[in-house]
Amino acid sequence: MAESDMPARRDALSLLSSTYSDKFEKYLSALFSFPGEGMPLRLADAMSYSLMAGGKRLRPALCLASAERCGLAPEMAMPMACAIEFIHTASLIHDDLPCMDDDDLRRGRPTSHKVFGECLAVLAGDSLMIWAFGFALSGLNSNGVPAELASRAVACLSEASGPAGMCGGQVLDTDAQSRMASDDFVYRIAEAKTAALIRSSVVSGAILGGADERTLRHYGDYGTHLGLAFQIVDDILDVTGLAEELGKTPNKDASQDKMTFVSSYGLEGARRLAMEESSRAMDSLSPLFPDGDPLIDLAESLSERSR
Ligand code: IPE
Ligand code: IPE
Ligand code: MG
Ligand code: MG
Ligand code: MG
Repeated sequence: MAESDMPARRDALSLLSSTYSDKFEKYLSALFSFPGEGMPLRLADAMSYSLMAGGKRLRPALCLASAERCGLAPEMAMPMACAIEFIHTASLIHDDLPCMDDDDLRRGRPTSHKVFGECLAVLAGDSLMIWAFGFALSGLNSNGVPAELASRAVACLSEASGPAGMCGGQVLDTDAQSRMASDDFVYRIAEAKTAALIRSSVVSGAILGGADERTLRHYGDYGTHLGLAFQIVDDILDVTGLAEELGKTPNKDASQDKMTFVSSYGLEGARRLAMEESSRAMDSLSPLFPDGDPLIDLAESLSERSR
C-alpha cells in the first residue's frame, strides 16, 4: 500500500465518527446546558462529566451510519445514538469502580468515583442507564419515527445492555465463579460485555431505517464481529498502549488476573484473531455494499487502532 494511503486507512474510525460528531456533540451538550427538571445538580454534573469527556463515539456513529444507509436521516436517529452513548458511558463509570476494575483514569480524566465519590458514581451510571430508554423512545416519537420501529430498536438496546448482554458480560469478566472452563470462554465474555452493545448500535439504526430481515442479519453479523475485534484490540492495547493515547491506565488486565484474548492466546495470537474478526465483519457487510463503504473500511482498520 502507498504510504500516503496509510493515515486514511488507519483513521477510518475517526473519519466515520467525524461524519456525525458535530451534530452529535451539539445534541449531547444541549442536554446538559441546564439541568433537567428535578435532577440534583451534582448528579447532572457527574453524568455530564463522564459523557462530555470525549471518547471515540464509535457506537453512536455506528447507529447513525446504519440508520442513514437504511434510509433514515441521522438527525431523526439522534435520540437513539445518544441513548446508546448513555449506556456505554454508564458501563465505563461502573467498570472503573473499585469493586470492578478499580481504575483512576478514563477518557483522559480522573474517573467518576475519584471526582464525585463512589456513591454518586454508582448513581450517575444508574441514572444514565435508566434514562436512556425513555429518552430514546420519547425523542424518536417527537421526531416522527414510527412507534413500532422505535420500540423494536429500543428493545434491541435493552436486550444488549442487560443480563444477557453487557451487564451479564461484566459478571463473567469479574466473577470467577460465573466462568466456565472452556478454551474459548474469553469469546463468550467479549460477546456479552462488548460485542452485544456494538451489535445493537448497528442493528438499532438499521431497524429505525426500516431494514428488512436479511439486511438486519448482515448488519447484526457485522456488529458482532466488529465488537469482538474491538475488544480483542482493547485487550492488546492494555499491554502495548500508552496512557496518554488511551486516556486510561494500561497494564491493568494482567495485574487483575483478567481472562483476556492476550492471556488466552498471547499477543501474536490475539493480533491474528483481531484480523480474523475484522475480516469476518467486512465479509458480513460486503454483500450489501459491493462497491465498498466506510463501515467496511472501519472494520479493516480496526486492528490498527492505537486508542
Ligand atoms: C472501552 O470502550 C470499553 C470497551 C468496551 C472496550 P471505548 O474504547 O469505545 O471507550 P471510549 O468511548 O472511546 O472512551
Ligand atoms: C469493559 O471492558 C467492557 C465494558 C462493558 C465497559 P474493559 O474493562 O476491558 O474496558 P476498559 O479497558 O476498562 O476500557
Ligand atoms: Mg472491565
Ligand atoms: Mg476496565
Ligand atoms: Mg480493557
